[in-house]
Amino acid sequence: MNVLVLGKGGREHALCTLLNKSKTVSTLYVLNANPGMCAIAEKLTGSEAFDHILWLCKQHKIDVVIPGGEAYLAAGITDYLTPHGITVFGPNKQAAKIEESKAFAKELMKKYNIPTAAYETFDSYSPALKYLTTKKPPYVVKYDGLALGKGVFILDTLEEAKVVLDRIFVKEEYATTKVVIEDFLVGKEYSFIIMVHNGRIVPLPIAKDYKRIFDNDQGPNTGGMGAFSPVPFVDEKTYNTSKTMMEKTVEAMRLENISYTGFLYGGFILTSEGPKIIEFNCRLGDPETEVILPRIQSDFFEAIIKLLNDQEVALTIDQQTHLGVVLAANGYPESYQKYIPIGEYRLKK
Ligand code: AMP
Ligand code: GLY
Repeated sequence: MNVLVLGKGGREHALCTLLNKSKTVSTLYVLNANPGMCAIAEKLTGSEAFDHILWLCKQHKIDVVIPGGEAYLAAGITDYLTPHGITVFGPNKQAAKIEESKAFAKELMKKYNIPTAAYETFDSYSPALKYLTTKKPPYVVKYDGLALGKGVFILDTLEEAKVVLDRIFVKEEYATTKVVIEDFLVGKEYSFIIMVHNGRIVPLPIAKDYKRIFDNDQGPNTGGMGAFSPVPFVDEKTYNTSKTMMEKTVEAMRLENISYTGFLYGGFILTSEGPKIIEFNCRLGDPETEVILPRIQSDFFEAIIKLLNDQEVALTIDQQTHLGVVLAANGYPESYQKYIPIGEYRLKK
């Protein structure tokens, strides 16, 4: 089969590396990808508008598309390509809401008793501020939309919280004016990603990423500065509880008449009351993927196809520790220079 991977980061490179080993993949294509990916896959170029992606799929007889990032999914790439006979391993627009809308994800967890932080949703400044005054810091304010890891604010004072509420409700710096305010949870975080189709799930190995920009877990949140897998503090009991929570989530969506196909990422915190979910993503995590996928020794593409055909899937997992470190350009996650060749950057430093 011919496969197209969409996206051009470390996550997609790790995905291509594994897909490339599959005997079922005839030609692996990438679109506008980074040079590392182009060394292992056929590079396609041009617009990433859905009609152009469809044209490329027809031109190159692509059977399966695997989108890396949430933006393709939230914009409905699955809904767009599927009627043309192209299989997309990723949720449709409705199901992608689990990442796109924090409010939707929280409502789902509340309704189906999936442990998460207590919260309220607000769509105007004054009630949001009033609620915050009833809470103790740190305050957790989440903008209700896709924000590339920058939509969550952990604030130590009410003054800081007012600035964030002002940016969202008064200055309208974001696409929607809705926030989720939730209790701050204390505990270690880990990421649990599963593959889903027709209610069947295939768990991938657990990973832990580090979101803050500087050493020793300091500074603003980023998409993730590094990760490792396996995660020793996730013992068997925690693992089983977390797996049940992911299964309950998939079942909850089914009961809401939302069919889910693709990767589903649960962001967990291990609190003193047990695991709680703080976020869902409708895709593989980055940088978690870079340490999870190298552990998979089975034919990964074959596993995806089996899952899509409603067959049982068992993955063979390497038990060695995998560690990934992210190199970021100066200024990240605010404004920073892009497309610096890594070798050149290292020489300049
Ligand atoms: P999210 O995008 O919801 O995962 O949030 C990004 C990061 O913010 C998480 O990985 C946590 O480090 C932190 N965070 C989010 N929600 C909470 C919470 N309720 N309590 C403590 N930390 C949180
Ligand atoms: N590493 C966190 C994420 O992929 O959202």
